Amino acid sequence: MDAQALETEAQSAISGATTPAELEAARVRYLGRKSELAQALRAVRDRETGMTLNSLRDRLEAALASRREELERAALDRSLTEDVVDVTLPGEQLPLGHLHPITQARRQIEDAFLGLGYEIRDDREVETVEYNFDKLAFDPWHPARSHRATFFFDDDRLLRTETSPSQIHALEEREPPIYMVSIGRTYRRDDIDATHYPIFHQFEGLAVDRGLTLADLKGTLLHVMRAIFGPDRRVRFRTHYFPFTEPSMEPDVSCGICGGSGCRTCRYSGWLEMGGSGVVDPQVFENVGVDPEEWSGFAFGCGIERVAQLKYDFPDIRALWEGDLRVLTQF
Ligand code: DAH
Repeated sequence: MDAQALETEAQSAISGATTPAELEAARVRYLGRKSELAQALRAVRDRETGMTLNSLRDRLEAALASRREELERAALDRSLTEDVVDVTLPGEQLPLGHLHPITQARRQIEDAFLGLGYEIRDDREVETVEYNFDKLAFDPWHPARSHRATFFFDDDRLLRTETSPSQIHALEEREPPIYMVSIGRTYRRDDIDATHYPIFHQFEGLAVDRGLTLADLKGTLLHVMRAIFGPDRRVRFRTHYFPFTEPSMEPDVSCGICGGSGCRTCRYSGWLEMGGSGVVDPQVFENVGVDPEEWSGFAFGCGIERVAQLKYDFPDIRALWEGDLRVLTQF
């Protein structure tokens, strides 16, 4: 082996390498295990040849390392000058979280009542017959007491069928005046269709003070409906029956989809039914030890799915439970 010729050839291959891959190829060719130099080193028998070849290997390794450093520095310089970052370009859009339409409606309802100074309550979903029916003055034969209408755990405990038991809890917990709204889940044994689901949400309001009248109820509902649906809404009452209010009324809000002129959503009446309301029945006050001669009050209850459906013109209540983001992110 001509060490001189080998060195010249190897040094020029190393200094001529312009990429890490070329440099690696030169290393394998001149210093790798099967290289001419490695084989010669393995075959060395005398000290002088050994020293010559070892120092040749040291020189080539040093040349290789310094060339590698040069290439790395050049690559860094290139990326610093060429890879210009334009900080004004739009960033990558990360998918943002999204509030469920029921949560959005719930928060709007809460805001409207907080603005009126109402307290927000969150009561129990497992109730007793006493609180869900008896103290709300439901007749013993009222159909809602049936096991076919209501989910019972046993003879006494059930999943609340409405948020109205909150009225009783609020009245028992403290003295009037009371201005409260209770929001949460309610349960009924309904068959599932576009407007019914066995779990749903209601908000329930109760105001008890001295001298409250039907006019206060109507003004409160008007304010809340306008806060939820927009400033041009009107509210009207139709007489109805509920066990715990007398008189009882169903409030309607004017249809915002057609502006009251009649459309499919309001079944061409111009009005949308919004639940139930009325003046607190003196019997309810007596059931909780509040003097009906001194205090008067009004109450109302309304489904939140209904609010969401009307507000977002949501065609099918089932979509609110299916968690399909293709649907939900539209609202
Ligand atoms: N709880 C009734 C229902 O689910 C709605 C209701 C009616 C609530 C009259 C009230 C009320 O507070 O006064 O159908």
